[in-house]
Amino acid sequence: MKIDISQYKHIVILTGAGVSAASGLHTYRGQNGLWEKYEIEEQGHVDRLTDHPEKIWQLFGPLRNELETAQPNAAHYALAELEKSLGTSQAFTLITQNIDGLHQQAGSKNVIELHGTIHQTKCANPDCDLKTYPDNNAHLNKAPSCPECSHPLRPDIVLFGEIVPDNKDLLVRLSLRQCDLFLAIGTSGSVYPAAHLVRFADYAGARTIYINLDPMLPPNAAFAEEYLGKAEEILPDMFGITL
Ligand code: OAD
Repeated sequence: MKIDISQYKHIVILTGAGVSAASGLHTYRGQNGLWEKYEIEEQGHVDRLTDHPEKIWQLFGPLRNELETAQPNAAHYALAELEKSLGTSQAFTLITQNIDGLHQQAGSKNVIELHGTIHQTKCANPDCDLKTYPDNNAHLNKAPSCPECSHPLRPDIVLFGEIVPDNKDLLVRLSLRQCDLFLAIGTSGSVYPAAHLVRFADYAGARTIYINLDPMLPPNAAFAEEYLGKAEEILPDMFGITL
C-alpha cells in the first residue's frame, strides 16, 4: 500500500514500543514483552515511589543501559524523512508513547513525548526546587534520593496512576482537530489516553490507519485500514522512502 503524502495537510502519527523493537528494545506487551517479566502496572505504579522506589528503577533503569548502544531503525528514519519531505503548508505531529528518544535521534522534529523521557531525572516531590536534569545512570543498585529534600528521585516519565501533563494533552488535541491522516504504529492500543486518539482523528474526518505486527484485539472501529507487518519494513515502502 502506497500513500501519497502530498495529498494530506494535517498528518498525525502515534507510535508505540513496536517501533523501537527493531532497535533491540523490549515492547511492554506481547512476545518478549516486559510484561512477561514483571507485573508492569503494579511495579510501574506511582505508588511505588512511596513504598518501593527501587522497583521503579528496576523496571525502567535497564532501558538507560540499553540506550547506550541502541540505535534508531528504519521505522524511525522513515518517519524523520517523511517529516523533512513535507511542504510549508503541511503540518506534521509525531506523538510517541516511547520514552527512549529514538525518534529525535533519527531526526524527527515535531515530537510530543506523551509519556515523558527516560533520559531525565526529577524529584518525586512536586514542591521541591530541584530542576529536572539529564541522567543516564540506571540506578539499579540503590534508588537515589533528592539532594535538596531527600525524597526519592524518579525518571521523568508518566507512571501508571499518573496522567499525561495538561500542556501535552492540549498540543495533542490541537494537532488532531484538523487531522486528515492518522497512523498508529507499533502500539497495542491498551494504554489511555493514547488509545483514544484515533477516535478524535476519525471524528475530524481523517484517514485512519493501524500498522502492527498483529491485528488489533479487540478491533477498534475508528481505524478504517489495517496493515500487518514490521513497521521498519512497511513505513519506507508505504511512503516511497529510500534510506
Ligand atoms: P505495547 O508493548 O503495549 O505494544 C507494542 C505493540 O507493538 C504490540 O501490539 C506489538 O504487536 C507491536 N510490535 C512489536 N514489534 C513490532 C514491529 N516490528 N512493527 C510493528 N509493530 C510491532 O507498547 P505500547 O502500546 O507502546 O508506558 O505501550 C503503551 C505504554 O505502556 C508504554 O508507553 C509504556 C507502557 O506502560 C510508559 O513507559 C510510561
